[in-house]
Amino acid sequence: MPHEPNIQTSPALVVIFGASGDLTKRKLIPALYQLWCEGRLSPKFAILGVARSGFDDAGWRRELYDFNPKAFDAAKWAQFAPCIHYVAADSTRDAGWPAITDRVREVGREHGTGENILFYLSVSPQHFEPVIGHIGTSGLVTEGRAYCSILEHRPWQRIVIEKPFGSDPASARQLNMALAHVFEEESTYRIDHYLGKELVQNLMVLRFANSLFEPIWNEKYIDHVQITASETVGVESRGSYYDSPSGGAMRDMVQSHLLQVLSVVAMEPPVSLDAVDVRTEKVKVFKALRVPTPAEVPFVAVRGQYGAGNAAGKALADYRTEGGVAGDSQVDTYAAMKFFVDTWRWGGVPFYLRSGKAMAKKCTEIVVYFKRAPHSLFRSHLKGGNPNQLLISIHPDEGVRIRFAGKEPGTGLKINDVVMEFDYVEQWKVEPPDGYATLLHDAIRGDQTLFKHRDEIDCSWSAVQPVLDYWAENPDANLPNYAAGSWGPAAADEMMGRDGRHWRTH
Ligand code: BG6
Repeated sequence: MPHEPNIQTSPALVVIFGASGDLTKRKLIPALYQLWCEGRLSPKFAILGVARSGFDDAGWRRELYDFNPKAFDAAKWAQFAPCIHYVAADSTRDAGWPAITDRVREVGREHGTGENILFYLSVSPQHFEPVIGHIGTSGLVTEGRAYCSILEHRPWQRIVIEKPFGSDPASARQLNMALAHVFEEESTYRIDHYLGKELVQNLMVLRFANSLFEPIWNEKYIDHVQITASETVGVESRGSYYDSPSGGAMRDMVQSHLLQVLSVVAMEPPVSLDAVDVRTEKVKVFKALRVPTPAEVPFVAVRGQYGAGNAAGKALADYRTEGGVAGDSQVDTYAAMKFFVDTWRWGGVPFYLRSGKAMAKKCTEIVVYFKRAPHSLFRSHLKGGNPNQLLISIHPDEGVRIRFAGKEPGTGLKINDVVMEFDYVEQWKVEPPDGYATLLHDAIRGDQTLFKHRDEIDCSWSAVQPVLDYWAENPDANLPNYAAGSWGPAAADEMMGRDGRHWRTH
């Protein structure tokens, strides 16, 4: 966690593999530029982009700037740009590596970054292992060398790896092994941009900097928790990635981002903010996730796929007609799943997670539903509406809202829901910053708190794999089963209905 956010990093060279990709232009470079503008990077700092496209330094700088000039101040960009370099090479093949290692050393010398290197893997998942293997044999990773340990300021090399982190437990384990051959766990940064989101970090502050919530943060007072990430967009240009045996909403969102959010909701208070202490508590949550049996799957998980419709004012075609998508695709563009965290604190409390594309609203939120008062004096006046809720809006309307019953004005007794709110933008007068700046700063500083531990990956795959297996073995003849622009398939409402609950609607 960035508990020392303004700290300036040690000298560092960030080497981005997959430099010509969308993520680099949209997120990574703007985030590094922001950190540079805020003076949070060492003056000895440089970026080296690696990709096959034939740019030189000047051409790549232009490409980055022109992608979204509004993200940069022209004068500041002119000062920042000289630290950006590029090498055109294929990092998946032996032949590309002499050029890459030469350039890494050259740029390191030019900017005085020494041997400190943050490798950033922003390549397609099938290239992860070849690139990691080549980094290992390049001689650029010196961290493990015996002499380093006796130096006070020893050089470091770290690796940041984007999702998808495997597509099932076996492939994730294999990727973890490939990483472990080259990097220590302490140097491995499995990134999840949801953990960089302001309101997710704020959740830790809300829980552990206040005494108000923690006493009621357990099965005695909490009825259930809902975590939603709905999007209005369809698969857009990502059809061929999404519509594969390793795609779909369960893998793309639930197994990764939403289970990470769940772990922050459910973790025990760590003994300190130290990365090891925080991650230890998160790992315990992952280990306590109940793994459904095949027979339970139809009762705890729902898959959906969108048909044609209108989402956020935009007409969307049937998923199966999108580019790169099979005409008889079984891939889930919507997934909902009920989880249990089998611990003393959470015994019997369901966590309902759902995520979908082409839904009614773009919304990422956590809602904690509290149990009803044990004896309600006002039973006859309550409209039978919602019990108390704590709503953490991650996006949009970032903030925290508490819903409770209040008396309506007037002489008679009328009770209605009222809301007490902390609105992030209104309070701080700024838009929430992009998570990538936080996460990159942490990685360069060597703070792993907001990155996933190997064990979290293992357990999160184990918890969803029975569902994925069941879905693969039992094709659903009803797909597509929700119209674009709706709140998902009826089966998801039925799953809630069986438990006497319903999804929060907007
Ligand atoms: C990515 C998924 O990890 O997260 C995308 O691969 C999804 O499919 C995106 O659209 C959502 O992120 P956010 O920050 O917009 O909620």
